[in-house]
Order: sequence, then structure tokens, then C-alpha cells
Amino acid sequence: MWPLVAALLLGSCCCGSAQLLFSEVRSVEYTPCNETVVIPCIVRNVETQSTEEMYVRWKLNKTYIFIYDGSKNNSTVEPSFASAKISVSGLLKGDASLKMSKHNAVVGNYTCEVTELSREGKTVIELKYRMDVNCCQGSDCSDEKEKGGCKLASWFSPNEKILIVIFPILAILLFWGKFGILTLKYKSTRTNKRIILLLIAGTVLTVIVIIGAILLIPGENPVKSASGLGLIVISIGILIPLQYNVFMTAFGMTSFTVPILITQVLGYVLALVGLCLCIMACEPVHGPLLISGLGIIALPELLGLVYMKFVASNQRTIQPPRKAVEEPLNAFKESKGMMNDE
Ligand SMILES: *[C@@H]1O[C@H](CO)[C@@H](O)[C@H](O)[C@H]1NC(C)=O
Ligand SMILES: *[C@@H]1O[C@H](CO)[C@@H](O)[C@H](O)[C@H]1NC(C)=O
Ligand SMILES: *[C@@H]1O[C@H](CO)[C@@H](O)[C@H](O)[C@H]1NC(C)=O
Ligand SMILES: *[C@@H]1O[C@H](CO)[C@@H](O)[C@H](O)[C@H]1NC(C)=O
Ligand SMILES: *[C@@H]1O[C@H](CO)[C@@H](O)[C@H](O)[C@H]1NC(C)=O
Repeated sequence: MWPLVAALLLGSCCCGSAQLLFSEVRSVEYTPCNETVVIPCIVRNVETQSTEEMYVRWKLNKTYIFIYDGSKNNSTVEPSFASAKISVSGLLKGDASLKMSKHNAVVGNYTCEVTELSREGKTVIELKYRMDVNCCQGSDCSDEKEKGGCKLASWFSPNEKILIVIFPILAILLFWGKFGILTLKYKSTRTNKRIILLLIAGTVLTVIVIIGAILLIPGENPVKSASGLGLIVISIGILIPLQYNVFMTAFGMTSFTVPILITQVLGYVLALVGLCLCIMACEPVHGPLLISGLGIIALPELLGLVYMKFVASNQRTIQPPRKAVEEPLNAFKESKGMMNDE
């Protein structure tokens, strides 16, 4: 109750004064992502109903760069700030913010002076420029590739980067788990070739992801980080043919393995779409998409491992596809002196 009364008293008191009151904003910053730059200047106690009674001036370094004369409804702009403008309709709500293209923007202390009939006031706002974190500290920031790298490097917080690395590494560890079961339980001369191929492809993938992680995590160099991210996300798709081949070597396609593979393909598509959107957009909004895609790729690896473990432990005598075991089986029969039943 009392604060309200106090506010009302204060309000009526202010309105009587010859001062315009401004929302307190000391500084704003823009980054390479801002296409337009808005320097805020909000008057809190505008009374007039007509812009004709208003006069707005923006000053940088003692030079007026923008003047709006309400009585003439005319804006005058310094040539080097050609894109600068204010919203005339916003003025009556007290909004005298200066908008300009980032190409015109210069860092510095801007003074916003507003006059409404006999009342006036001014406020100073500092416009700052921020390179994205860890980014472009060198000289060649104009390079588009550097900028793209900047964006990627600054989009992901350290925690997000860790997730981007953890999910693929987890998925690869799970793959090696399945590979272990495969070599222990389903080994035969026929499957040997496949196992060797899986070993080679698995090793290559592991190495690529480790290199990617080493490039991505430190994030000092934007191009390195971006390549690390690209390496991880693109190469992780190798897990899909690997998983397929593990299943085929072990027990072929079943009603469990097909959905597992489909889920993994979807996860990969999600991760790739996330990566593309991250490269194209200027804001980190698509990071979660990329990360959930990577998570969805890891999940089927876990399901695959559990399923394989389950099937393997349920089979006392492992019966891989018949052709795959013909030779050892024949050898077995011969050694036992059994007749060939074909
Ligand atoms: C730059 O863009 C960010 C995010 O869109 C925004 O919050 C910020 O106010 C902008 N900076 C300026 C000076 O316009
Ligand atoms: C404003 O003044 C500062 C130093 O006083 C100077 O570095 C800067 O270039 C000036 N900016 C413009 C746009 O004149
Ligand atoms: C001021 O001029 C602009 C165009 O320059 C126009 O859109 C606007 O309606 C005018 N406002 C007034 C109050 O005359
Ligand atoms: C605004 O005023 C300037 C000079 O004061 C004049 O050159 C310009 O034509 C005027 N613009 C409009 C839209 O009246
Ligand atoms: C703007 O003003 C502040 C405080 O007066 C000062 O610290 C800062 O260096 C100024 N910025 C520029 C770019 O002149």
C-alpha cells in the first residue's frame, strides 16, 4: 500500500518538474551477429500526445549525428550514419532509441537528448563491441571462415561442448562392448573377415572422434573448433553401418535390431540438421538439437549392446547364420566321426 502511494506521490512530483526521466542503461554491446544495432533511450515520463512537440538529438563525441525535429517531422542524419533512424510512432511512448545498420555503428559514448516542449533531459549510453568469446583475437577477423568459426566456437558453452564429446565417446565405447561380445561369442572363420573390417572401421572412427574432441574442446582457435565439431558430427554416422554389420554377423536382422537401427539413423539426421542450422543461423538456438541428435545416436548403441548381451546369454550353443559356421561345424562333425547329413 505505502509503496504505491509513495510511487504516486513521486510520479505526480516528477510530472511537475521540468525534467524528463530516462530508463537507466549505461551501456549496450553488439557482436558480429547483430545486423542492426539499437542504442536504447527510453523516456519514462512523456506527457505529450503529439510528436510535433518533441525534439530528439543524438550526439557522439560532441557531434550531432541524428536530429529529429517533431515540428517539421523531419530527421537530419550525419552522412556517416546514413542508416540511423528512430521510430516516430515510438516517440509518444517515450522510445527515442536510435537504430542503425551495424555497418554504420561505431563504439563510443552516445548522448540522447530529448525535449518535450519546455521539459528536457539527456542520458549517455556507451555502445560497445564484443567479439565472440575466444574469438578473432588475431588480425584477420574479416575472414568469413574465421567468422563462421567464431560463431561455432562461441555458441557452445563448455558444458555443451562436453556433451557434444561425451555422447559420441559413450557410443563408441558401447560399440567396442558389442565388438567384444561379437569376438567372444560369434567367432568363426567365416565371420573373421567381418570382424577385422569392424575392427579397422571402429579404430578409424575412434581416432577421428578423439581428434575432433581435441580440436573442439580448447576452443582457442575458432577454425579448429569448428573443424572438430564437424569431424565428430559427420563421422559419428559410421556407427550406423558398424552396428548393422555387428547385428548381421551375430544374428541378422530381427524385430529388435531394425527399430534400433532406424532410431540411430534418425538421431544422425537430427544431428546433421542441427549442425547445418548452427552453421547458417547466427544464434546458438540449434545447439540443443545437435546435442539431442548425438544423444539419440548413443542410445541405440546401448540398446544394441543390451540386446546382444541378452541374446548371447540366452544361447547356450550359439547358432549364427548357418553358412557362417559351416567350416567349423564340419570340422567338429569330422572330429566326432559323425556322418554328413546332407
Ligand atoms: C545485439 O543482439 C542481441 C541479441 O539479439 C541483443 O540482445 C542486443 O541488444 C543487440 N545489441 C544491440 C546494440 O543492438
Ligand atoms: C570519438 O572520440 C574518441 C576519443 O575521444 C575517438 O577515439 C573516436 O574515434 C571518436 N569517434 C568518432 C566517431 O569521431
Ligand atoms: C512523419 O513523416 C513520416 C514519413 O517521413 C510519416 O510516416 C509520419 O506519419 C509523419 N508523422 C507525422 C506526425 O506527421
Ligand atoms: C528536412 O530538413 C532539411 C533541412 O533542414 C531539408 O533539406 C529536408 O528536405 C527536410 N526533409 C523533409 C522530409 O522535409
Ligand atoms: C565512455 O564513457 C565512459 C565513462 O565516462 C568511459 O569510461 C569510456 O572509456 C568511454 N568510452 C569511449 C569509447 O570513449
